[in-house]
Amino acid sequence: MIALENAVVGYGPDKAFIAAVDDVTITIGDNEIVGIAGESGCGKSTLLRALYGDFTHGLRQRGGEINARFTDAGTGTTVEKRGANLSELWWDQISYVPQGSMSVLNPLMKVDKQIIDGLPKREKHGSRADLRKRIANFLKGLGLEESVLEAYPHQLSGGMRQRVLVAIAAFVNPRLILADEPTTALDVVVQKRILLMMVEIQRRLKNTLVLVSHDLGVHYQITDRLAIAYAGKIVEIGPTQKIFAAPSHPYTQALIAALPRVGEKGQRSGLEGRPPSLVKPPQGCRFAARCPEAQDICRAQSPELKMRSADRPVACHFR
Ligand SMILES: Nc1ncnc2c1ncn2[C@@H]1O[C@H](COP(=O)(O)OP(=O)(O)OP(=O)(O)O)[C@@H](O)[C@H]1O
Ligand code: SF4
Ligand SMILES: [Mg+2]
Repeated sequence: MIALENAVVGYGPDKAFIAAVDDVTITIGDNEIVGIAGESGCGKSTLLRALYGDFTHGLRQRGGEINARFTDAGTGTTVEKRGANLSELWWDQISYVPQGSMSVLNPLMKVDKQIIDGLPKREKHGSRADLRKRIANFLKGLGLEESVLEAYPHQLSGGMRQRVLVAIAAFVNPRLILADEPTTALDVVVQKRILLMMVEIQRRLKNTLVLVSHDLGVHYQITDRLAIAYAGKIVEIGPTQKIFAAPSHPYTQALIAALPRVGEKGQRSGLEGRPPSLVKPPQGCRFAARCPEAQDICRAQSPELKMRSADRPVACHFR
């Protein structure tokens, strides 16, 4: 449905190019929830923007392929787009909830006007009152009261604003919703409510959700497949439960080992250090400086990105 093949995507001119997505191959299928995890700066948002075909604000594709194909279940018509042309599918086949999106809402405008103004033309059939009613019914189905439409953003809690944004992304019935950290900075109860709402939307629309979160607990709760990003690479991808049960890559193992366990006293020691800068990434394995299993070969040679199956690339010499 949407696939990156050896995609190189990043920022800056050729001579000082920062490849935040560096030679990444990933296929996102129909009707699934795919998670993208990894520490800050590893390229999660850039990967999501590449899947959105959002080559604005200095982001550009420097190599590989980005292809999308969507078939309308009703009419059987298929649309295919590549690279920046994916923008022709925005708010039609693909919706996007950007990182830090709570600030996306205009503080001076009531929620209903913002939603209606932002909708694509094809959704604006009928009278404004009818359209508002349809939106209200849709929000109601997701547990949001009609009164949120009458509110200014500052009158809503952070969690409520985020739920409104996710609902807007879903209202146009897209085949693919891309959500970047939609629950970050919210308390666990509100977080849970938003996650349940996203699952409900995905089940109802039978579409695909790609969810970026640095929080592995979020992925454990709702994703079907999980991709682990490290320093511009996807180092592991596979069924979420399988990854949690038996992580392959030393980075994934370290992330999972650092998760707090219920009933355990004290804090687990986190992963020491930081991912390398993408301005001049190290030769050899990018995780070598932090990997407890690193050997000389790891620092000297890039590990080949082994494809264990279509689902499971592992960028490690030894796995
Ligand atoms: N507009 C930009 N111009 C130049 N470099 C950028 C830009 N946006 C991001 N980068 C760089 O690209 C790399 C990946 O950034 P990205 O935002 O994709 O990471 P992330 O995994 O989403 O991080 P976070 O978890 O903090 O949101 C970082 O090194 C970052 O500094
Ligand atoms: S290639 Fe070496 S340093 Fe890299 S993850 Fe594997 S064992 Fe660790
Ligand atoms: Mg990000």
